[in-house]
Amino acid sequence: MSRICLTVTEKTIDEAIKTVSSYKEDIDIVELRIDYLEEDELNNLDGFEVDFPVIATYRKVNDGGLYSGNEEFRIEILKEAVLSEKFKYIDLEEDLIAPALEVLSRDKGVRIIRSFHDFNGIPKDLSKKLMSVKRSENEIPKAAVNLRNSADVLEFYKEALLIKDEEKIVIGMGNFGVNTRILAGKIGSYLTFSSKEGNEAAPGHMSPRVLNRLYRIREINNDTPIMGIIGNPVMHTKSPKIHNEGYIKLDIPGVYVPFETDNLEKFIELANLLEIKGFSVTVPFKNDIIEHLDLVSEGVEQIGACNTVYKEEGKWLGENSDYIGFIDPLKREFGNLKGKKVSVIGAGGAAKAAVYALIKEGAEVLILNRTIEKAADIANKFWCYYEPLNSYSTDLIKRFSDIIVQTTNVGMHPMEHINPLNFYNFKGNEFLYDIIYAPEKTVFLKKGEQAGCRILNGWDMLLEQGYKQFKLFTNREYPV
Ligand code: ATR
Repeated sequence: MSRICLTVTEKTIDEAIKTVSSYKEDIDIVELRIDYLEEDELNNLDGFEVDFPVIATYRKVNDGGLYSGNEEFRIEILKEAVLSEKFKYIDLEEDLIAPALEVLSRDKGVRIIRSFHDFNGIPKDLSKKLMSVKRSENEIPKAAVNLRNSADVLEFYKEALLIKDEEKIVIGMGNFGVNTRILAGKIGSYLTFSSKEGNEAAPGHMSPRVLNRLYRIREINNDTPIMGIIGNPVMHTKSPKIHNEGYIKLDIPGVYVPFETDNLEKFIELANLLEIKGFSVTVPFKNDIIEHLDLVSEGVEQIGACNTVYKEEGKWLGENSDYIGFIDPLKREFGNLKGKKVSVIGAGGAAKAAVYALIKEGAEVLILNRTIEKAADIANKFWCYYEPLNSYSTDLIKRFSDIIVQTTNVGMHPMEHINPLNFYNFKGNEFLYDIIYAPEKTVFLKKGEQAGCRILNGWDMLLEQGYKQFKLFTNREYPV
């Protein structure tokens, strides 16, 4: 297990105390960043009364902090912090050798976090380097290194896992390192740092509430099943919320973690190293992931895209839960789709999954796309009709209008004012399905609704594809 440390970067001691108290349910340790305090406040360090063990950190500019004065003054302030008896730890960088302060700390029962930072990447032999900075048994070594890519992430975990049964703090910074902050308990990091929302003290910090309530990081240990999502970018996805809330509701161990990725081979090696049970795949890897898998489902083969990977008997298997997520809400609405006449707008990856699912259910499909060749490719593969996306197709659309499915990104920011079917007048008996969920109602749906059409957005599809993945990853039904 690991501890959640709140890094406080307020200007005054009073504000710092308030911030700590607003997170008291979700933290175990506090780091007071002295370098963020106003100068006058340096005399008030002994007023920092909180109910948690506190780390005093006075960080220099070179190490990512704000302090730019001389070393003597910095050491003096840290000494006062030790003497105030309000601090359980002080943070000293590896190049700050201050024997008197070290002795004083030991005598006062204050532990030293001996830290080094690398904003340019991961140093060679990170584990050796980390253990070599420790100057006495009173010290906990800490490394915070910037992870720039998937190769760095893999190297980071390999090195961090080499150090067993020793107190240490290891952190990967940046978007690629967010997962290392969540998996602190897996790699045996003494603590993980967090910040107040909107006030990140270091690249990749999350809020203590998210770490505690969504990722349950205090409970993560070496046996916790790990699931995740790969993509680039990946930090904005809703999937961690969907999956982690499922484990919480069922009260089962498990954590679902975002892995920003730029190299699939390295990620698969990492997935094997961390014994990841399964992962979701998002843009831009849904196609490229396929060649890295041992076996894929018929759906993946037909659609040419895979959004779900899970391990079974040591093999990586690929599934496409997008098409199931797409079709289930329609089946709920109509029961049976056999013989239904459906127009599908778009001919990208999402359209392909939709067309595959519709044909499989026995619907008859007309594909409409701006680039006709792409519509033709899908139509030829799945045996359906195709037409250009313009008024020339109006009569045919009228014949394929039991359901009209919108799969393009037109309607989403920055095209939120555009209706891709603006040349068509809804009769009012069409069922409209837009796979976009933000905005909640696209112009396409709004216009249809005004004409009396029943409408559905992509929210249910997003949830359903997640539920299907959940089942494959955990063998349990999602607790809807
Ligand atoms: P996805 O995998 O999300 O479906 P995609 O493969 O890039 O994404 O496909 C995007 C779809 O949106 C395509 O059908 C594209 O039409 P083209 O094939 O003609 O490019 C469609 N699209 C994107 N911008 C569009 C626009 N401004 N007007 C009409 N269609 C658009």
